[in-house]
This record gives sequence, structure tokens and C-alpha cells, in this order.
Amino acid sequence: MKDIDFVRSRFVKHFDGSTGYIYCSPGRINLIGEHTDYNGGFVFPGAINMGITAEIKPNGTDKVRAYSIDLKDYTEFGLNEEDIPSASWAKYIFGVCRELIKRGVEVRGFDTAFAGDVPLGAGMSSSAAIESTYAFALNELFGEGKVDKFELARVGQKTEHNYVGVMCGIMDQFASLFGKKGHLIRLDCRSLEHKYFPFDPHGYKLVLLDTCVKHELASSAYNDRRKSCENVVAVIQKDHPEVEYLRDVDMDMLRSYKDKVSEEDFKRAEYVIEEIQRVLDVSDALEAGDYETVGEKMYETHEGMSMLYEVSCEELDFLNEIAKSCNVTGSRVMGGGFGGCTINLVKNEFYDLFIETAKKEYQAKFGKSPKVYDVVISDGARRIE
Ligand code: GLA
Repeated sequence: MKDIDFVRSRFVKHFDGSTGYIYCSPGRINLIGEHTDYNGGFVFPGAINMGITAEIKPNGTDKVRAYSIDLKDYTEFGLNEEDIPSASWAKYIFGVCRELIKRGVEVRGFDTAFAGDVPLGAGMSSSAAIESTYAFALNELFGEGKVDKFELARVGQKTEHNYVGVMCGIMDQFASLFGKKGHLIRLDCRSLEHKYFPFDPHGYKLVLLDTCVKHELASSAYNDRRKSCENVVAVIQKDHPEVEYLRDVDMDMLRSYKDKVSEEDFKRAEYVIEEIQRVLDVSDALEAGDYETVGEKMYETHEGMSMLYEVSCEELDFLNEIAKSCNVTGSRVMGGGFGGCTINLVKNEFYDLFIETAKKEYQAKFGKSPKVYDVVISDGARRIE
């Protein structure tokens, strides 16, 4: 997380010299369960030690005055629907204000400056970190905390849907708000029932390798994937009205609809149904301390995301192959896909070899070095000053 003093010094310099309240929210990793959240399935995220830190002070007007410290960009906007700012980073803050207002919070004007250390476009949910920071803070500052954290997660998710145009699930915002130090969260995305799993895989490290690429059109491709899942559900629902999500469909049922859905939609649904089961298998394996099985499932997820869901890319597949060749226990693309990071579970004794090999070979093939992030599982949204 960015240092409090760093953010405060910029806030004070940029506005009238007085101080406000400081809040922060993290990005997330996800051990397994990708593209399952909007299918009513399970995910296994954890909040991390990188995120967004913001200073916020009500300013007694009806205008928000916002400064992005990292981008050195300033903007002002009102709080009515038609006041949507044009800067894309400001849309997240605006969207959160609007979604809180829709839930009865009387959001008024404020001054804010924020900075982050979640790499952008790396699949670590920098956008959810911004949304959760402001949802959590503005609910305290203007709503006396009346919106609960489940609904705050929906505030972030609806910001994406209504103001950013990404039809995301609930995982990222949930993890950013509910994160707990040293614990992963197994979340049922239909009921929001969740269980914390202590995560301290003795003898292993969890490391992210960032391809440093983000392919164009990732958000429209994301929305297309979601549409495919909904197409399949719509067809099955005609005979089985109880089916609400792909979560409610098993492989036998899906197979019996093979002729009624497109080949592409079929593959997408196949991946999702298998992935939902993998999350449950990983929960059992974690409870038994069986990291070899966790790792196997991670490789299976990669395969599915690459071949069936088709959200991987050359760079991610390349890093996945290197992981295999270096005896890495589990490796897969993390997050929405189309670039960003692989998440790797690696035995301590193979760690150095893996990182060195990945850097060298990736450099030789793509002309740049992947970034390496050692992950620390941390707490969720909070006020820090
Ligand atoms: C993005 C979305 C999440 C989730 C993942 C894929 O991070 O914001 O809701 O769908 O992709 O698992």
C-alpha cells in the first residue's frame, strides 16, 4: 500500500492545506475459480498487500474535486447522473457515488487525492480497489455506515456495469472488502456465503508473474464470455425453469443440449461447469493440506481457460509451459485473462530456478522481462487515519 504520508503530502498540497480521512482497499489474487462468479459458482480469492490509498474530506459543496496522484490528473464533477466525468479513472469514483446515492446515502461534495500500487491491467483488480476504497469511505463519511459490506460490494460491481461497461461478477469487490490477513476466502457467489481458509502453505511460495501485456478489447471479450454462458442458461431454462445459472447445470445435462447451443457457447459452458467443481476440489485438498492436488487443479484451470474459454494468450501460455518445465506445483492464468498475470504455487526449492528461467526465456521470446510479485495475503477495506 502507498504510504499515508505520501498521499497526505499530495492531498495537502493540492487542496486547501487541511487534512481529511485516509482509507485504503486492496487488490486481490484468486487461487482458483475464474469466470465462475457471474455464473453463480464458487471462487477462492484473497486480498493482497497492494491497493489504493485515498485521502477524503467533505468540502461542503455539491462538487467532487478529485486528484489522481499517479496520473497527475485533476477533475471535478457533480453528483447527478448527467455529471459523469470524462476521465476514465474518475468514472469509478463517480459510479460509486451514484450507486451509494441510489441506496439512500446522501453523498455530498468532497475533496480527494489517491494513489495506488496495484499494477494496472495485471488482473489484480486495481479497479475494485478504487471502488471499494470509496464505497467503504463514503458510506462511513456520508451514510453513518448504513450500507452493509455485502451491499458495498454490489456498489462496486454495479459501478462496473453501469458506468464502466464491464459486466463483471462480485469476486473482486468482495475480496477487496472482506479480505483477511493470512486467509483466502471461499465464496459462494450466489448466496455470498463465505468461509475463510487459513493459507500458509508450508514449504511453498505463491508468486505472480506479470506478462506486462494487456490485450485490446479485453472488456468486450469478457462481456462476450458472459453472454455465451447466459445463452446456454436461456436454452436450458426452457425445459428446466429451476436453472438460474450454469452453477445449476452438470455435464450430463449440458451434453443433452449439445445440438441446441452453438459449438462456441458449449465450450464456454463446459469450462465453467468444470471450473466450479475444481474450486470445491481445491477446498477439500486445502483442508487436507494436499498442495499437490491444488497445483494439479490450477494446471487444469489454465488448460480450460486456454482451450475452452479462450481467454489466455501466447504470453500467458508461454509462462505456463515454463512453470511446468521448472517443476512448479501449480500455475495458471489469473483473473479475467487476455494478459496480466499467472499465479504460481511453487516449492521453495524450485523457486529461484523458476524465476530465473522465466525471466530469461520470456526476455528472449518477447523482448521484455515479466514482473515478479510475491504475494502477501492481507486485510480488506479499512480506515487508516
Ligand atoms: C474479472 C472480473 C471478476 C471475475 C474475473 C474472472 O476480474 O471482475 O468478476 O469474473 O474477471 O474470474
